Amino acid sequence: MGVNESFEDLAQRAIHHAVAYRKERDTLPPRPTASVQELMSLFDVGVPEVGRDGVEVLDSLAAAAEPGLVGNISPNFFAWVMGASHPVGVAAEWMATAWGQNAAIYDTAPAAAVAEDVVSGWLLQLLDLPRGSSVGFSTGATMASFICLAAARSEVLRRFDFDLERQGIFAAPEIKAFLGDEAHTTIFSGLRYLGFGDNNVVRIETDQQGCMVPEALNAALAEFDGPKIVICQAGHINSGGFDPIAEIAPIAQAHNAWCHVDGAFGLWARAVPSLRHLCEGIDRADSWSVDGHKWLQIPYDSGFAIVKNKEAHRRTMDISASYLNLPPREAPSPSQFSPELSRRARGFAAWAVIQALGRSGIEEMISRHCNGARYLLEQLEVEAGLTVINDVVLNQLAIAFGEGEPLVERNRLTDAVITELARENTSYVTGAEWQGQKILRVSIISQRTDAVDIDRLGASIVRAWRKVRKT
Ligand SMILES: Cc1ncc(COP(=O)(O)O)c(C=O)c1O
Repeated sequence: MGVNESFEDLAQRAIHHAVAYRKERDTLPPRPTASVQELMSLFDVGVPEVGRDGVEVLDSLAAAAEPGLVGNISPNFFAWVMGASHPVGVAAEWMATAWGQNAAIYDTAPAAAVAEDVVSGWLLQLLDLPRGSSVGFSTGATMASFICLAAARSEVLRRFDFDLERQGIFAAPEIKAFLGDEAHTTIFSGLRYLGFGDNNVVRIETDQQGCMVPEALNAALAEFDGPKIVICQAGHINSGGFDPIAEIAPIAQAHNAWCHVDGAFGLWARAVPSLRHLCEGIDRADSWSVDGHKWLQIPYDSGFAIVKNKEAHRRTMDISASYLNLPPREAPSPSQFSPELSRRARGFAAWAVIQALGRSGIEEMISRHCNGARYLLEQLEVEAGLTVINDVVLNQLAIAFGEGEPLVERNRLTDAVITELARENTSYVTGAEWQGQKILRVSIISQRTDAVDIDRLGASIVRAWRKVRKT
């Protein structure tokens, strides 16, 4: 046993490290500076024969981890699509951990079950989705989509008089999933976990923004008579674009298909009046996946699987056994809507962040990020030789360098700009390949990012590009 296991001492030490890190973060380069080898040697100190003093263990952990921490809580972070762990959420998460609740069922964690139930209702209000939908708390959008698609699989088979829960997937008629060719990679993973192979997935043509073409979907659906699932995207990973769901949902309905929306970050546009047009008709879908740890800034990990047909959701996910006491009839039961039994009490941090931001705080933050994206566009548009290749409708920019040059040269220049920005390390941005070319990606989603941070980023991009162009 360690020498010091006083919870108070340990909690204070943890707070000391956490506060020092949060204070220092904005002055640190957003990319970690340690190499893999350095991190390996910092962490791989061997299993001690005798337990160490707890406070000393926390000090060693901070010393080992800090050189390898990515600055995604900093306002200068624009890589991938990541939230910034709201401080109130972090503090609430600590309390949840200290309380040690297992959010499996009502009996194991009554307060956690009720918090999740209440937050579920708030989410339906904020996102204006059909009230009475069920919500499963998950690790993120990947698992949220998996949950929704599992419910979809069960329900579309039922429409063909097939009882999946009794007869099992191996005897089932073939189901096909129809989705935009540029659906997020995790949707394909979710489908694989559910037994879909490439032959059961129909990739529908997309437009310049990576959004599904409804006419192509309609034609593809008409060619298949079996059970069908349509999967739309609200917020493309590079363009921020939305599949035209107002057109797609009625098409899916007309073909008796379940319609799922992957809205990992984009679904939050629905909480902002000036962006709501992007999500027109989204409430006509059957299920939605959305992250808490992206735009809502809930600390990792937090995602929500929202399903209009509560019965299909419960039938698919329900975990029960006689030793898991049935909850009182009016009590919520989290294990009916998520695939895990024992798990963290995710509802507490979600409850706290929604309380801390409020409806207007959420609206202000998302608007600020989207205004920031247009502001960055204005700064970049006037610079010769670089092109923002997406329509900036949300918070994402896709930038290519070397306009007018052959593709190979454009790709070389874009790579060189990304390398130069990484070397400068004042803002964290990353690259990708999209529409057959290399791009620099910018995602404005970190809680505190404002116009000053956008100015810094815009100046860095222009500086890097001018330097690369000269070489
Ligand atoms: C559109 C979309 N779907 C799904 C995901 C996966 O989300 P998570 O990493 O929370 O599982 C992402 C992540 O960026 C995304 O942008």
